[in-house]
Amino acid sequence: MTHDTAAALSTPADYAEAVERAVRAAAAYYGDGSTPLGDDEYDALLQAVTAYEDAHPDQVLGNSPTGKVAGGAAGGDVPHSVPMLSLDNVFSADELAKWSAGLERNLGHEVTAWCVEPKLDGMAVAARYRAGRLHRILTRGDGLAGEDISHAADAILGLPAALSDPIDVELRGEVLLTHDQFEHANRLRTEHGATPFAHPRSGAAGTLRAKDRPYRVELTFFAYGAVGLDEDLGHSALLELLAALGANTAATTPAHPRRCATQEEVRQRVEEIAALRASLPFGIDGVVVKADSAADRRDAGSGSRAPRWAVARKLAAEHKVTRLLGVEWNVGRTGIVASRAVLEPVDIDGVTVTYATLHNPADITRRDLRIGDRVFVYRAGDVIPRVEAPLADERTGEERPIVFPEACPRCGDAIDTTEQRWRCTRGRNCQAVASVVYAAGRDQLDIEGLGRTRAVQLVEAGLVTDIADLFSLTREQLLALERMGDTSTENLLAAIETARSRPLNRVFCALGVRGTGRTMSRRIAAHFGSMAAIRAADAETLAAVDGIGTEKARVIVAELADLAPLLDKLATRDVGTAVTEPQGPAAAENAAVGEPADGPDAQQPGSAAPLAGEAVVVTGSMTGPLAALSRNEMNELVERAGGKASSSVSTRTTLLVAGEKAGSKRAKAETLGIPVLTPEEFADRVAAYLP
Ligand code: IVH
Repeated sequence: MTHDTAAALSTPADYAEAVERAVRAAAAYYGDGSTPLGDDEYDALLQAVTAYEDAHPDQVLGNSPTGKVAGGAAGGDVPHSVPMLSLDNVFSADELAKWSAGLERNLGHEVTAWCVEPKLDGMAVAARYRAGRLHRILTRGDGLAGEDISHAADAILGLPAALSDPIDVELRGEVLLTHDQFEHANRLRTEHGATPFAHPRSGAAGTLRAKDRPYRVELTFFAYGAVGLDEDLGHSALLELLAALGANTAATTPAHPRRCATQEEVRQRVEEIAALRASLPFGIDGVVVKADSAADRRDAGSGSRAPRWAVARKLAAEHKVTRLLGVEWNVGRTGIVASRAVLEPVDIDGVTVTYATLHNPADITRRDLRIGDRVFVYRAGDVIPRVEAPLADERTGEERPIVFPEACPRCGDAIDTTEQRWRCTRGRNCQAVASVVYAAGRDQLDIEGLGRTRAVQLVEAGLVTDIADLFSLTREQLLALERMGDTSTENLLAAIETARSRPLNRVFCALGVRGTGRTMSRRIAAHFGSMAAIRAADAETLAAVDGIGTEKARVIVAELADLAPLLDKLATRDVGTAVTEPQGPAAAENAAVGEPADGPDAQQPGSAAPLAGEAVVVTGSMTGPLAALSRNEMNELVERAGGKASSSVSTRTTLLVAGEKAGSKRAKAETLGIPVLTPEEFADRVAAYLP
C-alpha cells in the first residue's frame, strides 16, 4: 500500500510543501468532497508529515493538518454541542492488535466487549431532534462548528422527520450515496449538463450542500452515535436504541456491527467485513473497532482529534487517480461497440490495473474525458475497473480529445449511432464475419479461399454463425451460393477438411481469445497440450505460462467460459479435440512408449531437440526450404524444435536466423556476439522438424 512507500520528507522545504498539499487536499476532501489525491495518497502524505514532525518538533507549522479534526478544514458557523471527532487509523491486522493492546494497557485491564462495524465512506453529519422532530442538520466542518444543511433533510433516507419517541437528541452518523444512488445522481447530472461526481463521497458532499437543483438526488444516512442519550449505554446497545428510534443503522446491512468478546473475534469480524466490501451496496473505506462498554470509553477518553477508545482499520482505497493514456474500441458479441480505457498502470487494492471500462460515447462527451487526463478509477472486488471522472482542474493543456470510430473497428461496416450504446450495423453477424475471417487466416486455420467476401456471403446466407459452422457446410449449400462453381466448392471443402487437423496452437489461436495472439497461443498449447487441459485450467494455472500475468489469466479464463458453447460445438464437429501440439522426434518417442500427454511437461520437446535451451530471433525474408514460411510458422518451427521464439534481440538471445534484407536486428546480434545463421543453415539444423 502506498502509505508504506511514502517517501520520507528530508528538508524543511519538502515538509512545508507536503503540509501545503495536505491542507489543500483536506479542504477539498472535507469541503466539497472532491480531492486531487486518492485516499491512500492522502493517508501516506499525512503519515510522512507526522513522521517529520515527530523528528523535528521545533519545526511544526501552525497550519499543519496533523492533530486537527478534518485535517484543519474550514468550519461552519454553527457550533457543535460536543466536538465531532475523527478516528485514528491503522493499516494492518498487526497494527490493530498493537492498538488494542495499547488501549488495554492504558485501561489497566483486558477489554472484554468490543464493537466492530463498517467505516462508511461518506460525510459525517449531526442531526438534532427536538421533542422527536428533526430540527437541524449540520456538517462536521472543522469538528467544532459545522454548516447548516437542513435544506437537504427530505433527500436523506434513513434520517426520519420524526423519531418514535418525542425526545431531544442529536444523532450522529454518515450520509452517503449508495452505489445505485451514485449512478442515478450521475445520470441526472450528465442529463442536466453538469459534470459527474468523481466518486460517491464527493457526490454525497456536493449533494448535501447543493440548493435549488433542478433535479433530486437521494442520499442514505447511517447512525453510529448520539449525544444526549443514556451515557451508560454500551455502544452496541446504543446502536439498537438508535434503530428503535427510527434511524437507519448498519444493522440493516450484511456488514452489521458485531459485539465481540475477544481480540480474535474482533480480527475475524474485521476480515469478514473487509471481505463483504465488494458486495455491499455502498462504499466503505475501513472497519471501525470500538470499545463497547461506556465505562471503558469514559476511562480511555479522547484526544483533541480522535477518541482513544476507537480506531479505524483502513482498507486500501477502491478509487485511485491515474492517467488516461488512450482509448481502445472493441466490438462485443452482439455488435455493441464498446470503449476501453488504457491507463497508466495503477495499483488498486493489490491488483495492477491497466484497463478499465469507459462509458458510452455520449457519456464520454458529457464527462468531457480527454486522453492525457488524470482520472479517478474505481475497482471493487472482481468487478472490472471503471473510469469515473477526470480531474479537470489538473489539466495542462496537453490533453487530446478522444476520437470516436467512424466505422466498425472489427468488420469495417457502418456503426448505428442512434442509440446511446453504439452498435455495428451487422449486429451479431459482425462477430461472425470477423471471427470467421480471423479463424481462416494463414496463421490460424489457414483455410484458403475463405476471405472476407466469402465470409460475408456465408454469414448472410445464414449458413455460418460461428467458426464451428464452417465444419458442417455441405457441397449443396456452397453450390447454391453466387459465384461458387464446382471447383471452388471442392477446393473450399478440402481446405476446411485440412483445417480440422491443424495443430492445437492454431485451433486455439483461431478462437480469437482476448489477450492471446499467435505467440501466446503457441505457449498455451505447448504448456497444456490439449484443448481439454486448456479448458480445465484456472487463472492460477494459466498464470504459470510465460508472459501471462494474473490480470490476463483472469481475462482468458472468463473468455474461455464465454466460449464454452462454441468449444462444445467445435468438439461435436471433431475440431480441436484430437489435436495436440506436433512434437519433434524426442516427444514422438515418448508418445510411442505410452507416456501420457496430459501433464504440462509431456508436451515439451526433450533436451535432445536441436534448439533446446536456445532463445531464437528470426529476421529478414526466409529463403531456401524456409521460403514459404510466415513469421508465425518460423516461430512455430523454433518452438517445435525445442527453442524459445522471440521478436527482439537482447542479451538473452542465443541465436539469430537472418534472411534477406535483415537490418538492425542482425547488426545488434553481431555487436552482442550472438551467432547468426542463414535460413539454409538453420533449415539443416532443424531438418527433422520442418513442416
Ligand atoms: S465513530 C468519536 N463510526 O469516519 C467517534 N465514524 O475517519 C467518531 N465514520 O469522522 C466517529 N463510519 O465521519 C465512527 N462506524 C463509524 C464510522 C465513522 C464512518 C467516519 C466519521 C469519522 C470518520 C473518521
